[in-house]
Amino acid sequence: MIKTLTLSAAVALGLGAGSAMAAGGESHVEDFAFSFEGPFGSYDQFQLQRGLQIFTEVCSGCHGLRYVPLRTLGDPGGVGLPEDQVRAYAEQNFEVFDPELDDTRPARPTDNFPANTGVGAPDLSLMAKARAGFHGPYGLGINQVVKGMGGPEYIASVLSGYTGEEKEEAGVTLYENHAFPGGWIGMAPPLEDGSVEYQDGHQNDLHHLAQDVAAFLMWAAEPKMMARKQTGLVAVLFLGLLTVLLYLTNKRIWAPVKKRAKGEAAE
Ligand code: HEC
Repeated sequence: MIKTLTLSAAVALGLGAGSAMAAGGESHVEDFAFSFEGPFGSYDQFQLQRGLQIFTEVCSGCHGLRYVPLRTLGDPGGVGLPEDQVRAYAEQNFEVFDPELDDTRPARPTDNFPANTGVGAPDLSLMAKARAGFHGPYGLGINQVVKGMGGPEYIASVLSGYTGEEKEEAGVTLYENHAFPGGWIGMAPPLEDGSVEYQDGHQNDLHHLAQDVAAFLMWAAEPKMMARKQTGLVAVLFLGLLTVLLYLTNKRIWAPVKKRAKGEAAE
């Protein structure tokens, strides 16, 4: 029994490592420096707002974001839109089907971003977490641990990783892409230099656009990252303090015994 278990575990490990290796070997993921990396990193509110604009103008044509409630656009620590802007954004950009009305109506902050069921494009709500990665040699995740590389790096790399080559396979057009495992992706290059105009005149070359929308998708997948990091920090400080107190208490409790032992040894 144990033997079969060990055997199947070994096989599973072997297979896992093999496929991860294949993926890691072919795809090239660039190490972008995101503001939210590291234990003290936080989201850049303005970058998330730019990313939201790209998502709305470009990606939402094909991709849904069905697990993300529109009202969270107003949450602090994230996109941080004022409440009236959240409402206006929802109404102006999306229609949802309301079973009570048996008709579509403009979206409200209480709705989620719509799903997109039309064109075979995956939902992006959790994409930044789903592609968190196992990058690095042999897919060991070294780059994730050491360089903080993960899903947003992967997404930005895919968006900026097109070579310009395309081919037709069984009636489907595939586009060559350095970052996509396998090297050929079914998504036509969605972004290029200047494909979105920012109101504040922020840089809008492909490199910046890719990072902005990747940061936004990271927020979509993990909107509470700031709160999580804060809690973690408080926990670490608290445990540190507890360690010092316990050390001192321990010394104190054993002090008389140690003294006695010393005295006995001296006799
Ligand atoms: C014209 C439709 C279309 C648009 C616009 C579009 N995509 Fe895609 N996207 C697709 C399709 C189709 C796939 C599936 C490709 C495949 O699996 O080969 C895909 C896949 C993806 C993936 C998943 C890659 C993976 O690892 O499986 C990501 C991430 C992605 N798109 C992000 C974006 C972002 C960000 C935008 C906006 C800048 C965008 N897409 C715009 C059609 C689109």
